[in-house]
Amino acid sequence: MLGYRDGKLYWRTHDLAQIAAQVGTPCYIYDLDGMCAKLRTLQSAFPQAEIHYSLKANANLAVIRALSAAGAHFDAVSGGEIFRAVRAGVAPERIVFAGVGKTRHELDYALQLGVAWINVESSGELTRIGQLSRALGVRPRLALRLNPDVHADTHPHIATGHAAAKFGIPLDQAAHILDAHDPERDPYCIEGLHVHIGSQLQSVERTVEALQAALALIDRFPFLRTLDLGGGFPVSYIGEPVPSVEAFAAAVQPLLAGRQISLILEPGRYIAAENGVLIVEVQYVKRASSDTFYVVDGGMTELVRPALYGATHDVLPLRQSDAERTLAHVVGPICESADVLRTHVLLPLLAEGDLLAILHVGAYGAVMGSTYNARPLPPEVVLEGDSWRLARRRQTWEDLLREEI
Ligand SMILES: Cc1ncc(COP(=O)(O)O)c(C=O)c1O
Repeated sequence: MLGYRDGKLYWRTHDLAQIAAQVGTPCYIYDLDGMCAKLRTLQSAFPQAEIHYSLKANANLAVIRALSAAGAHFDAVSGGEIFRAVRAGVAPERIVFAGVGKTRHELDYALQLGVAWINVESSGELTRIGQLSRALGVRPRLALRLNPDVHADTHPHIATGHAAAKFGIPLDQAAHILDAHDPERDPYCIEGLHVHIGSQLQSVERTVEALQAALALIDRFPFLRTLDLGGGFPVSYIGEPVPSVEAFAAAVQPLLAGRQISLILEPGRYIAAENGVLIVEVQYVKRASSDTFYVVDGGMTELVRPALYGATHDVLPLRQSDAERTLAHVVGPICESADVLRTHVLLPLLAEGDLLAILHVGAYGAVMGSTYNARPLPPEVVLEGDSWRLARRRQTWEDLLREEI
C-alpha cells in the first residue's frame, strides 16, 4: 500500500525517500510480502492448481526465495534462470524448463539436474531431448507446448498463441507427435500439454478457446494427465479495467470439472508487477515550447517497457505537494528518443533533486534492464515486514569492464 504520510510517500511502514537516500537513485524497491499475497490470491482462485512463478518477470534471488517459501514452483525459460532458482535453494523437481530455443548445453544441464519437466516447443527439440536423454541415461517427463492459433487480446509483442507466432507446436503436428509417442520405447514420457497465449490478457474468452483446444487433445490421448495453462493474468497499470483472476477461474473451472488432470499456472506479471517501484531523481527541468520535460536519472536502461511496448506507468512524487498539477513528460538520460518513462502525466511543479516513484514495475522491469550507454544496473531493495535490505548492489563502472579481455 502506497500512500502519503506527513507529506512523504510511504510503502506500508517504509519512507521511500529514506531508502533512496541510503542506496541512491535510480533504484528498484520490491514488496516481498505483497508478492506472496498475490500468490495466495491465485492459490485461492485456483485451489487445485500448482502455481509455477514465471521467473522471467523478476528473478531476483530474494524474490525467488520468498515465493519458494510461500509454496511456489518455478517456470524457467533459460539455463540461467534454472541456475538462479537452484542457487536460491529451489529443488530441481520444482522447476519446469520452457522456452522456444533451448540449446544442447541448456537441455543437458536441465536433464542432469532432473528438473520436474520440460515444455517442448518443436519436433526438432523433441528429437534433441531424445538424443540427449539416451546419452545421459535419463527419462524426462515432457509437456508439448501447443500453438492453438488463438489471437490473444493484448499487445502484439506479447501475444504468443496465434499461428504466425514462433511459439508452440501447431495442433495437427502435436496430434501427430502424440500418435507416434511410444512411452515404452521413447527415452522420454510425454505427460502433459502446455498453452500460453500471451501476457497481460484483456479477455478470458481467448483463454477458454485455448483451453478447449488443449482439452480436445487430452480427450484423444488419455496418457496426457497434466495441463499447464500458462500465465498472462493482467494487471491494471493506470486504473484501467482488466479481468480479475476470479473471472479467469470462473470461465476455466467449469471446463475442468470432473476431469482427472493436474492443472498448472505460470503467472509472472500478476505476482510481481504491482509489488515493485522504481525511484528516480529529477536532474533537470527543461521547457521546450509548451512542453515540460523532467529529465531523470533512470530511463530505458532501467525500465524498457514504455519504449518497447508503449507501456504506461503511473508516477508519484515522493514529496506530497498541493501545487497546481501540469502536464509533463518524464524522460531518461539515454541518447535515444524512445527513452521516455512517461509522457503527458499530471505532476506538481518539480525541481532538480525531487524524487519520483514509477509504479507497477516489479515485473519485466529490472530483469529487462541493460547497460546501454555504459550505465551500471541499479540496486534492488526488498521490503519484508517492517525491515528492508539491499538484495542487489548497484553495479559499478568497474563491474562493466570485468568480462572484457
Ligand atoms: C511460457 C510463458 N509462461 C508464463 C509467462 C508469464 O506471463 P505473465 O507474466 O503474463 O503471467 C510467459 C510470459 O510471457 C511465458 O512466455
